[in-house]
Amino acid sequence: MKVAFFDTKSYDVPGFDHYAADSGLEIKYFETRLNEDTVSLAAGYDAVCVFVNDTVSAPVVETLHALGVKVIALRCAGFNNVDIRACQGKLPVYRVPAYSPYAVAEHAMALLLTINRRTHKAYIRTRDFNFSLQGLAGFDLHGKTVGIIGTGKIGRVFADICRGFGMHILAYDKFPAENSGLRYVDLPELFAKSDIISLHCPLTEETRHLIDAKSIAQMKKGVTILNTSRGGLINTEDLITGIKEKKVGAACLDVYEEEGDFFYEDFSGHIVQDDKLVRLIAMPNVIVTSHQAFLTQEALDSIAATTVDNLQKFFAGTPNASTEVRYTIQ
Ligand code: NAI
Repeated sequence: MKVAFFDTKSYDVPGFDHYAADSGLEIKYFETRLNEDTVSLAAGYDAVCVFVNDTVSAPVVETLHALGVKVIALRCAGFNNVDIRACQGKLPVYRVPAYSPYAVAEHAMALLLTINRRTHKAYIRTRDFNFSLQGLAGFDLHGKTVGIIGTGKIGRVFADICRGFGMHILAYDKFPAENSGLRYVDLPELFAKSDIISLHCPLTEETRHLIDAKSIAQMKKGVTILNTSRGGLINTEDLITGIKEKKVGAACLDVYEEEGDFFYEDFSGHIVQDDKLVRLIAMPNVIVTSHQAFLTQEALDSIAATTVDNLQKFFAGTPNASTEVRYTIQ
């Protein structure tokens, strides 16, 4: 079975080559992303394998179907970039529901520690033999309240990590986890009481712009906002205003609303045209990483293993029901 693999990066290939060997899958790696302009590359392939910034819109689904592609294998957990409704009855979609919740939760804590203790600035300073501590003061995480929105696999690992730091935890989830030991509150209470807010829910129509002017207005002055989930959870314009007005004390963003145009590519020699992204990066209390929270060896290995397994089982006629993404009305 032939698989067209889109948005390939060098770190994808060893794991997929390893698991695909003797699997009956023949993978062709394309560096380009899948979208309406590139979908014709999928001609002659049985499956497409896509990542977070490939665009699997309704027209792309129509064309894939017309080209005879039989299945879409996402090599990630989130599926907001796939029009699942358009796929119904045409193309089954499989994903990797869990690979390493630790990778993402640990990255969220790395960002929080960095922005708070300014280790990124200290590193640059000492490289230049500048040993001044001016402007590097942080705060103890111990005793602070962290509000966690979305207490699935990643949110709960993040809660465990925060517990280890002696933080108080407030949680919000549309479907609270039973026996989690977490204290669930409603969103207004979480916004009002949290020193740090970390987003770990999926991007849906309901959660789009969960963080906007209205919710920021309910937050504590100086709140730190962490987003390692999906960029669309935050209204970027409103976040920038909140930071400029000093209501938001810091923001750590591994994801960004318009990341598809930039993330995973080298723009160091270019004039970046996205003024909001440039503004954020220019702020001393903002850290942007380019959707790298998943990027550990363990996660890459697990992603490759599950994706190859999803495809093998699909083509063997024994599809993996637990990893299939089904359309549900929200
Ligand atoms: P999960 O499915 O285990 O947990 C998601 C949680 O969000 C569930 O408990 C669910 O009930 C909750 N939820 C759903 N709708 C909600 C709403 N309207 N309000 C509040 N909570 C709601 O997913 P997991 O594995 O914990 O991943 C969370 C998110 O992290 C993913 O959706 C994905 O967008 C993002 N992610 C980011 C990565 C990165 O590299 N930055 C890597 C992997 C995932």
